[in-house]
Amino acid sequence: MKKMLTGLQPTGVITLGNYIGAIKQMVEYQEQYDTYMFVADLHAITVPNDKLDLSEKTRSLIALYLACGVDPDKVTIFAQSNNEYHTNVAWMLECNSYFGELSRMHQFKEKSKKSENFTAGLFTYPVLMAADILIYDSDIVPVGIDQKQHVELARDIAIRFNNKYGETFTVPEPVMSVTGTKIMDMIDPTKKMSKSSENQNGVIRLLDEPEVARKKIMRATTDSEMAVKFDVENKPGISNLINIYSALTGKKTEEVEKEFEGSNYGTFKKAVAEVTIGKITEIQEKYNEVLNSGMVDQVLKAGADKTREIAKKKYELVKQRLGFYM
Ligand code: AMP
Ligand code: TRP
Repeated sequence: MKKMLTGLQPTGVITLGNYIGAIKQMVEYQEQYDTYMFVADLHAITVPNDKLDLSEKTRSLIALYLACGVDPDKVTIFAQSNNEYHTNVAWMLECNSYFGELSRMHQFKEKSKKSENFTAGLFTYPVLMAADILIYDSDIVPVGIDQKQHVELARDIAIRFNNKYGETFTVPEPVMSVTGTKIMDMIDPTKKMSKSSENQNGVIRLLDEPEVARKKIMRATTDSEMAVKFDVENKPGISNLINIYSALTGKKTEEVEKEFEGSNYGTFKKAVAEVTIGKITEIQEKYNEVLNSGMVDQVLKAGADKTREIAKKKYELVKQRLGFYM
């Protein structure tokens, strides 16, 4: 069975866009791959932030994924900081990565512009990510488009290391985790719904109060026509609502158009709000149940035990390849 691995930063906000574009797909993947999913908490400290609440956010993130249908019997779930081999392997890989190639990473260029005092960790971030991936011989790494370059770097590092020291790592493939449905902002439907958006009225969060989510949908920007028709170019707002309705009900675009033929936008929005609220309420109920059950700690403990064993073997192989006294 092929191995799939992905990391998630514990940022605390998960949007309907994340759910439809990534989490739902993850839940399908778990049937096809030996899946590893971890909280990238060591990556979260590369940008200084006083209010990280890492422990709290890690528990919340895992609970939310479990609530969305990630099955801990099928997926190995762990926190990166609970596995010291990630940083150990990262150091060995750093000494086989080049200043030049890391300087060319888009994310580093973007984020380092924002502060004069950016950290060394921000610079070596992609190498830690390469260690995350290569330790487990991951075949497939689903990521958003912004992380694709980092997975490509992990490929380069793996190939380089294998050529220099002998076969050590599987060369991973990035896969884009948005398969088509990109969910757009409720206020500006020409831009992606994003957790970091300035106006949060455009962003539906999985943990929004249902009535708050309803208001955001009822106030969503639409056009001045009256037809529930899918036309991204001329009707981005309505097309986005059609996408949401379609993703949450499993109905095809044409079926949705047919269902709402002759309806006004108010009626359609009410229907979109109903299915959205239905979904987030279901997720929130499970989320609270999971958080209060002790399950998160159990899952993370089991994940740490399992992955430390795997990672230790890879770490020792890397040391051996590099010729360390052991
Ligand atoms: P991010 O929240 O940008 O870190 O993305 C996490 C995952 O969710 C990535 O796989 C993204 O491609 C996906 N994602 C984020 N926002 C959206 C959106 N508005 N629509 C669809 N997928 C999204
Ligand atoms: N850097 C990724 C992000 O911000 C998270 C991440 C860390 C990751 N290590 C990874 C993703 C390994 C995939 C594989 O989204």
